[in-house]
Amino acid sequence: IVFDCGFEDTMGMQELRSLTRQLLKAHYYNRELDDPFFFSFCNIEPDSNIWALLQKFHSNQTGQTFDGYSQLPYHFSPRNFTDIFPREDLVMLSPDAKQSMYEVRSDKVYIIGAITDKASSKPLTMSKAKRLGIPCMKLPLHLLKWKGPRKDLGLDVVLQILQMVNEGSAWEDALNHCLPQR
Ligand SMILES: C[S@@+](CC[C@H](N)C(=O)[O-])C[C@H]1O[C@@H](n2cnc3c(N)ncnc32)[C@H](O)[C@@H]1O
Repeated sequence: IVFDCGFEDTMGMQELRSLTRQLLKAHYYNRELDDPFFFSFCNIEPDSNIWALLQKFHSNQTGQTFDGYSQLPYHFSPRNFTDIFPREDLVMLSPDAKQSMYEVRSDKVYIIGAITDKASSKPLTMSKAKRLGIPCMKLPLHLLKWKGPRKDLGLDVVLQILQMVNEGSAWEDALNHCLPQR
């Protein structure tokens, strides 16, 4: 899984704080798994706000520095994912994609946008995928019989859905579990 941290400029400090909480939630969830995902944080600069907030929130919560990557297979880079992974393996996940995904493949690198933009949701990841010429897919939310969830989910929720499907759950079950009906 790639978290594309290259959208920092599109967010204010409040959104960046909320984003960091979601990234840490994804990390805390992943580190409990028997078979954790490989996380790659791309387009992240050591002097970025996201990096500073990750350090701060993690140490506030645990009293430790954010060094999950020393125990887990994590990777941090200021480079773009197209410079790191084979282009043919890349799949951008976007709520604005035309195509729905129906499988989680272990030979693919799924890119999740490190974005929280509840107030003004722009198709940032879809535009980036088009610009880079890589496939772009959305989660099959239409499989849910109930209507209600926003189409743009938090990245921690997206990660949990991918993990459940990867472990063999049906999409409907994973979606219903992660997006409880109110
Ligand atoms: C809050 S969404 C941000 C939406 C943002 N407007 C964009 O352009 O992606 C956070 C990230 O989770 C992933 N995501 C959220 N909902 C999704 C969905 N329904 N299908 C696929 N990916 C989704 C995307 O990678 C997205 O960038």
